[in-house]
Amino acid sequence: MIKISYDRKIYRNQLLEFLKDKDTVVELGCHIGKTTEIIANINNNGKIIALDNSPEAVDKMDKLASKFSNIEFISADVRLHDTLEKVIKKISTCDILSVDLGGGYHPDTVFKVYYIWASTLKPKITLIRNKGLIDFVKSSQTEESIKSNEGWLESCGDAGIPPQIKEFELWSSSLCSSEKELKNIKNIK
Ligand SMILES: C[S@@+](CC[C@H](N)C(=O)[O-])C[C@H]1O[C@@H](n2cnc3c(N)ncnc32)[C@H](O)[C@@H]1O
Repeated sequence: MIKISYDRKIYRNQLLEFLKDKDTVVELGCHIGKTTEIIANINNNGKIIALDNSPEAVDKMDKLASKFSNIEFISADVRLHDTLEKVIKKISTCDILSVDLGGGYHPDTVFKVYYIWASTLKPKITLIRNKGLIDFVKSSQTEESIKSNEGWLESCGDAGIPPQIKEFELWSSSLCSSEKELKNIKNIK
């Protein structure tokens, strides 16, 4: 599922609606951690990887991460391939991907960041905070029905994953499906 918001209250309510105790959350654009702290109080047995490239975020986020063992802060630019690579080495699944690079921030950048991160991490749910994207979705029309149920665009398959990231076996389609098969076998037993 993909949810878009602009109003910060709606964005946080959407998070609260889906967030569970053991979830792994990747938060792009955590700023000084106001939403990170809300998440950290709920997914006590999960993990939050929170990222921001603002110098303002560093002290506050380091402090927050020392208070909550489930928070890991990375000071980095989420548009960079190296940043994504750093994150995928730390997690094996992503339940929620949250993208808040500033609600009024360029929808083109926000969409590109969303598309690459979501194609790679394959989250169950993605929350995006951006005004321009809401305007686009609400103002556009189509006769065609192409729809995804996950937090990433299933219709595009793995097309968004940068070639270097594709080298990580964990993220190849074949391993994903064998992982699913393994889970199915375990469930049957
Ligand atoms: C509106 S604030 C986020 C607020 C936060 N999500 C909250 O709920 O309190 C947007 C943040 O996105 C960060 N940001 C914008 N572009 C970024 C980028 N390319 N890489 C990392 N962080 C970025 C900014 O530094 C800023 O702190």
